[in-house]
Amino acid sequence: MCGIIGYTGKNNAVPYLMTGLRKLEYRGYDSSGIALQMANDIFVLKRQGKISELEKAVTPELFSFCGIGHTRWATHGEPSIRNAHPHLSRNSSFAIVHNGIIENSAVIKEQLSCEGYHFLSDTDTEVVCQLLEKNYKGNPLLCIAETLNALEGSYALAIIHKDYPKTIFCAKKDSPLLIGRSSEGNFVFSDCCASGVHCESIYCLEDYELAEITQSSLSFFDKECNPIEKTARTVAFNCSDSEKNGFCHYMLKEIYEQPSAYKNTVNAYYSGGDISFPLARFSSKLVCGLEHIYIVGCGSAYHAGVYGRYIIEELSGISTSAEIASEFRYGNVPLNENTLVIVISQSGETADSIAALELAKSKGAQTLCIVNVEGSTMAQKAHRLIYTKAGTEIAVATTKAYLCQIAVLSLLAVFLSDKKGILSAETKEKLIKEILSLDSAIEKELTSNECLCSLADRLKNAEHIYFIGRNTDYALSLEGSLKLKEISYIHCEAYPAGELKHGTISLIEKGTPVVAVCLRRDIFPKTLSGIKEVKARGAKITAITREEFRPLFGHEDNVITIKSDICDMFSPFAGVIALQLLSYHTAVKRGCEVDKPRNLAKSVTVE
Ligand code: F6R
Repeated sequence: MCGIIGYTGKNNAVPYLMTGLRKLEYRGYDSSGIALQMANDIFVLKRQGKISELEKAVTPELFSFCGIGHTRWATHGEPSIRNAHPHLSRNSSFAIVHNGIIENSAVIKEQLSCEGYHFLSDTDTEVVCQLLEKNYKGNPLLCIAETLNALEGSYALAIIHKDYPKTIFCAKKDSPLLIGRSSEGNFVFSDCCASGVHCESIYCLEDYELAEITQSSLSFFDKECNPIEKTARTVAFNCSDSEKNGFCHYMLKEIYEQPSAYKNTVNAYYSGGDISFPLARFSSKLVCGLEHIYIVGCGSAYHAGVYGRYIIEELSGISTSAEIASEFRYGNVPLNENTLVIVISQSGETADSIAALELAKSKGAQTLCIVNVEGSTMAQKAHRLIYTKAGTEIAVATTKAYLCQIAVLSLLAVFLSDKKGILSAETKEKLIKEILSLDSAIEKELTSNECLCSLADRLKNAEHIYFIGRNTDYALSLEGSLKLKEISYIHCEAYPAGELKHGTISLIEKGTPVVAVCLRRDIFPKTLSGIKEVKARGAKITAITREEFRPLFGHEDNVITIKSDICDMFSPFAGVIALQLLSYHTAVKRGCEVDKPRNLAKSVTVE
């Protein structure tokens, strides 16, 4: 949700800023811009739309040793050049880029307007910029600290001043900001991938800390501007992760990376016949005392939670529910030391999920985070932590991170039932064997690409598509429906197969596409009844099912069958591949921007 990059060093900043913006584009693509320190001035270049628009405007003569850049996901003010960052203060002495939301910007704006400040944009960020100018008395750090004191809300800020050459000032609260030292210069960025070069040390700025970055030094301060020492972290990041490696889209590349992402995740927590989560530190006493588990997340992470709910209850018998983070955080959920709140997030930066975690901690619940990005805010705040090992995910629509989330939840379900002492050695061995074999099952599903591509032709002109399933098939329907709607812009909804007849079935008419996920053997006859009900009203069925059920479908139905004999509870690992590929091909055939769907951003760091 907005990406920040800044560079100061011995080389021209422009190529570093442009590389950084391209790599951060997944965080927002409504507009972008750069600000460069020139002799006694700050030069600003901004464009509406994707980074490619800014690239067209960058001329070879542009040169500066220091600059900041921004890619925007609009919150305050429409996507336009006027609202694009960087913003300049009234006398052009300060330029700033911002990620976050200043909640009291309207009040400050009114005060500043009364004092004669004029605003060129509708953004909350410009308010910060003018306030900086107002508070400036010759010392930028003191001025920034004073300005931050007046702000409510969240911010990651990179700031340059025309009189402080080759220097970038930074601050953060509730939005991520990292500082990197490299042999080519020093960086500030929202995400490690943005530097495009290897940074030997990365520093994670904490809330209320400030930083001053020059060509040769990194200095850190607390909110009173007292110098502080910070320890560098090594953040595992493979720059090649952020390349497409011959695939047309990141999404397709990431779909194909799933067998190895799955293997990396499972191998991190399984060895020598047992499952262990070293950063989660669960004792048998704690597990046996659990009265309820809440699994909390947003979007696909929530859908992973719905899957987790079914298998944790099935295996461990612990009462479990899945909750949408933005609802959970403002609900009055009863929490105590015998409840476990599991927060799931790929980015570890989702504002609602972080708030849910903090609420759970404040109410004394046990907490566990399942996170993909090392060093992310959630990873730092977590009491107990399990990393998914999906690697860098660039496409806005998640694929491999979701798969790794359900992988961790499957391991966790086995682990919890084992800790409770209710799993026989034989069942444990059988379950683990099945989990270990799923990477090859996932691999086999990837070979159905061609057939799903032609099936996409039949769905691409639909206006509405309904997804149905029961139990883990329902959890998978939720994810399949979200994947298709977010990248193809076809209206899709998922329902428990038994629920449709309580209202929604009135929307089914001749030719309405219904995707039926019916992988579970134990409830197949029940799901089939639901399929018959919608078929009787003219629905056109696409079934994601098993080969043995094929004869139960008619020649008029589209039937996709999984290729491995997986037990019911793990069948989503195969089924999800078909749904991801179907969504991908449908979106491509509709000419959609698969990796960067409209109105979306990869990490939602605002409420
Ligand atoms: C959908 C998708 C989103 C995210 C959601 C949570 O494809 O990617 O629904 O799952 O925004 O993001 P994280 O997992 O980063 O908290």
